[in-house]
Amino acid sequence: MAVTLRDVDRENFGRCIGLEVHEGQRGYVASNLYSIAQSKVEPALRPQAVYDGEEMVGFVMYGYDEEEGCHCIARVMIDKSHQGKGYGRAATTEVVRRLRAEPGCRQIALSVNPENRTAQALYESLGFEKTGEVAHGEEVMRLRLGE
Ligand SMILES: CC(C)(COP(=O)(O)OP(=O)(O)OC[C@H]1O[C@@H](n2cnc3c(N)ncnc32)[C@H](O)[C@@H]1OP(=O)(O)O)[C@@H](O)C(=O)NCCC(=O)NCCS
Repeated sequence: MAVTLRDVDRENFGRCIGLEVHEGQRGYVASNLYSIAQSKVEPALRPQAVYDGEEMVGFVMYGYDEEEGCHCIARVMIDKSHQGKGYGRAATTEVVRRLRAEPGCRQIALSVNPENRTAQALYESLGFEKTGEVAHGEEVMRLRLGE
């Protein structure tokens, strides 16, 4: 498996907005169409397509949350046909690596639906901790990176 993150551009845009999660997961993540539109009005958020080799398997969006004043992972999704193969873990690990390398990044925040045990376990295994905060009905988790 060679997972890479690539910009969403005019070549791969159509494929990216066509990726979808299982029906029961739709409440867990915004559509990629919405996320790409959001990145247009929040340019500190970076939308990236997740590839295994030349095949697009998912989508992430990360960057700086201007409202919260904090680095964040805004989206992680793997297409329903590619889940459970390690792509979500690999993509999230790469996003954390990129954010850690950004100057001034002391912590990374994200929020997760309380019913989404799979995602919570994944984030916990990468060092994220629940904070007790709730944002838009989701539990906020943070990875503290120290000084
Ligand atoms: C959450 C999500 C990104 C995980 O991606 P994935 O590629 O399926 O996950 P991975 O194959 O990398 O597996 C990560 C861990 O989750 C576990 N896992 C994956 N699918 C699972 C399932 N259906 N049930 C239980 N555990 C599961 C794996 O066992 C793995 O744990 P391990 O590494 O300790 O063995 C993916 O399921 C998804 O897109 N879900 C819908 C959108 C979503 O919930 N996004 C997160 C919003 S906060």
